[in-house]
Amino acid sequence: MEIIIQPTAEAATEIAARIIAKLLREKPDAVLGLATGSTPLRLYQKLADMKLDWSRATTFNLDEYTGLPREHPQSYHSFMWENLFRHINIRPENIHIPDGNAADIPAMCADYEKAIRDAGGIDLQLLGIGSDGHIGFNEPSSSLASRTRIKTLTGRTRSDNARFFGSPENVPLHVVTMGIGTIMEARTNLMLAFGENKAAAIAGTVEGPVTADNPASVLQFHPSAKVCLDEPAASQLKRADYYRWVYDNKPDWQSW
Ligand code: PGA
Repeated sequence: MEIIIQPTAEAATEIAARIIAKLLREKPDAVLGLATGSTPLRLYQKLADMKLDWSRATTFNLDEYTGLPREHPQSYHSFMWENLFRHINIRPENIHIPDGNAADIPAMCADYEKAIRDAGGIDLQLLGIGSDGHIGFNEPSSSLASRTRIKTLTGRTRSDNARFFGSPENVPLHVVTMGIGTIMEARTNLMLAFGENKAAAIAGTVEGPVTADNPASVLQFHPSAKVCLDEPAASQLKRADYYRWVYDNKPDWQSW
């Protein structure tokens, strides 16, 4: 794993923006996996400001709530259009978000997996992390080999997301999410995590044992996983000094 610790979330976001911009410039028809939540908001603003060419790019979002109308302000469909898609020149037909209102959820999930395969697989998957270590909405105990499917949120995640819905009870109980096996097939995984609330999950991800109890820890098995952190999110890492030293001594050809 490449652990990139920056003084601020803004600086860590800037690096993530450069990584994605480089991919889009080198591979205009790249397939990007996208994430929602507070963490990537600033990244999406930066990507929009960079005026990149998204006309040949394809995107797949990680997850969606079930039972929320697409137009609901807290649906991830609304989130993505509001915060990224309406600001860039992506073609609507190249955008994929799981349909949380599908009549046949398992069939929709199988179709989603097929669409990812048909697009040639995901070049770069952007990830946040839950305070419980979830990636996508793969909560602790998710199979590390799981595919896109329905999941039930933990009480902790519903509390974490209550700020968007007024109270934890208003947060949908069920979601559809790419599986951990799906995420692991992306050619690169790029995780962003900011704030003290993520420090324990990040320590487990980077330095803990690989365990379904902290689903993000599976990234230790990924050949190209980058983790961009601010100082508070990195505050429980035992080897933080080593990660900083590695980053400060990267060969020029490895930089973005
Ligand atoms: P956040 O959510 O970016 O709103 O902290 C991250 C996640 O739950 O994956």
